[in-house]
Amino acid sequence: MKKSFNIAVLAGDGIGPEVMQEAIKVLHALEEKSGIAFHFNEALIGAAAIDATGDPLPPATLEACLEADAVLFGAIGDPKYDNAPDLKVRPEQGLLGLRKALGLYANLRPVVCYPALVQASPLREEIVSGTDLLIIRELISGIYFGQPRGRSEDGNTAFDSCVYHRDEIERIAHLAFGYAKGRRGKLTLVDKANVLATSRLWRETVTAMAPSYPEVQFETLFVDNAAMKLIQQPTAFDVVLTGNLFGDILSDEASVITGSLGTLASASVGIETSLFEPVHGSYPQAAGQNRANPMAMVLSAAMLLESLGLTAEAGHIRQAVDAAIQAQVMTEDLMQGKASTTEVGDFIARYISERAMTSNF
Ligand code: NAD
Ligand code: IPM
Ligand code: MN
Repeated sequence: MKKSFNIAVLAGDGIGPEVMQEAIKVLHALEEKSGIAFHFNEALIGAAAIDATGDPLPPATLEACLEADAVLFGAIGDPKYDNAPDLKVRPEQGLLGLRKALGLYANLRPVVCYPALVQASPLREEIVSGTDLLIIRELISGIYFGQPRGRSEDGNTAFDSCVYHRDEIERIAHLAFGYAKGRRGKLTLVDKANVLATSRLWRETVTAMAPSYPEVQFETLFVDNAAMKLIQQPTAFDVVLTGNLFGDILSDEASVITGSLGTLASASVGIETSLFEPVHGSYPQAAGQNRANPMAMVLSAAMLLESLGLTAEAGHIRQAVDAAIQAQVMTEDLMQGKASTTEVGDFIARYISERAMTSNF
């Protein structure tokens, strides 16, 4: 079994570097006890990369990702770009360009209600309790990438194109049926087939595939209805398959079930090296203040380990995050937590180090 792994580390902007520091701390704690070695290769992305090189995705960063066993990604984005819509170069192009270049067509966003966090959600306990769903968001096509896009010459009209090819739908649908088979056997396709031609192609394509997966109960739901059902009865969902934009919006909505966007991790998988990223952004209001929740980033590192076959080690991260929640070592976004970013990371790393002595790594 391989014992040494190269990880490209793209911390990015805002709270990205702070939460990344905690994930690396946790991975170091695992390294010390498990005999596994991680070689971290830091690279620039987003606004930090624009400041340093003028390019949100410098060629050296893409190269580092292609050479790595996995990519750990923090967050990108800066208010100086958010409030200047005319700028041609933007931090988000770094992330979108990287996803496209690596062919990361599927973004897996698990949403789980931790028993110790049922009170953290503004939704009632009987609604959120037992939630365990997986949003599978198409990540490199649809309205995010379709051509043509832009402005008319007089600047008064703007347009984006939503484009999907049947092949793009089939490859992610196979993946989604596979995940549903391995879980509770239910797949919900979320679309807007009553209005959009692309959604009608999704519905036609995925419905035609369903008979090949007889062990999966397949259903379809319009996105407006899904947005309501997701917080009305989240336990009714197992795997949710949807396009790029709907998946972006529904996953932030689903974070309300867990209590905070600061807990949601994700894996972006496809053709080249997989990338692991929190669902949240650069949360500029908290940048540099040691108060952002590092759990989404740390749990993204756990998903990274699982993808490398290091399931026991990933399990230790999950156990340690659970323990932090049980011990109320949480940041302010969860139940008026009093801990700082670094205190949460320290607790998780220490828990791993101490448990590791009695476990069978
Ligand atoms: P955001 O996800 O950064 O923050 C939205 C809200 O979520 C915050 O106000 C906060 O209440 C909460 N939150 C987010 N992360 C948290 C954490 N770790 N701990 C505690 N609370 C947390 O979204 P935004 O404010 O809409 O966007 C800010 C910037 O981030 C923009 O530039 C945007 O483009 C970028 N962005 C980047 C990514 C990414 O890198 N993947 C994702 C979303 C947004
Ligand atoms: C996300 C973010 C990105 C997206 C932005 C920053 C490009 O919101 O990762 O969810 O929309 O995909
Ligand atoms: Mn988003």
